[in-house]
Amino acid sequence: MTRPTPDATTAADAEAHAALDRRDQEEAARLFPGARYRDVLGWLHEAVQPSWYLEIGVGGGHSLARTLPQTSCIAVDPAARLEAEPPSKVFLAETTSDAFFASGVAERILSGARIDLCFLDGMHTYDQTLRDLINAAPLLSPEAPVILHDVLPLNDRVGNRERLSRFWTGDVWKIVPILQRYQPDLEMVFVPAAPSGLIVLRRVGAATMTVADRFEEAVAWADDLRFGAAFSDAIWRLPRCANTRDAVMAAFSGSVDPSQ
Ligand SMILES: C[S@@+](CC[C@H](N)C(=O)[O-])C[C@H]1O[C@@H](n2cnc3c(N)ncnc32)[C@H](O)[C@@H]1O
Repeated sequence: MTRPTPDATTAADAEAHAALDRRDQEEAARLFPGARYRDVLGWLHEAVQPSWYLEIGVGGGHSLARTLPQTSCIAVDPAARLEAEPPSKVFLAETTSDAFFASGVAERILSGARIDLCFLDGMHTYDQTLRDLINAAPLLSPEAPVILHDVLPLNDRVGNRERLSRFWTGDVWKIVPILQRYQPDLEMVFVPAAPSGLIVLRRVGAATMTVADRFEEAVAWADDLRFGAAFSDAIWRLPRCANTRDAVMAAFSGSVDPSQ
């Protein structure tokens, strides 16, 4: 038997890796049938009718493109590469979320107004997502929903902190057990939208973010957690909103009072 040349081995490895990723995508589609997360995001815009929208993590601009024409948008990404047509009313901050929140530019742009809908989809680590949530909270109107992406990985490889696969959520999923432990008053709604689920947090702007005072402790507590069935089950046990337009409209319409 001839041994494969190093090149052939590399090509075969690459193919096997891609096939694994394909299997992950197929498994995600099987687990989360129906609408994908950007469709759900679009329906959330329809339901909430935000005057102001904040998005952390813009990428190609495909989620930003789901905003309504009348909504003013603040979008943050140090490496946005817009492929989709951007909304007409958008301020794009080409910087990290930490630098953006520290700069005070949001307060200047909003000049007294509040964010009515927020989507956190920046760096895919739980500590950064938690920091984004804590930093966004003071900018929100009391009823503003906050949407978290990539909360339910398929397995611990997809949900690993370091990227091991093309289809990858990072360890954002740890934010759910952290909030359950350190901020239990926040209501979480799970939307099983492909490919890795959304959590919608209700009334963050009305909450006292006590988790902020215990940030280091919470991050250290979650450090050792490894994704498995217990965490997956805990997400499926949360209050759930189906990933259909009707369900999203029923659950979130009128959730923001325009006079606030
Ligand atoms: C998955 S993409 C966003 C996809 C987009 N929201 C969508 O659904 O079409 C994640 C983005 O987060 C950005 N990102 C990474 N670190 C960040 C940080 N510290 N602050 C803000 N954005 C960050 C990346 O540049 C990347 O474009």
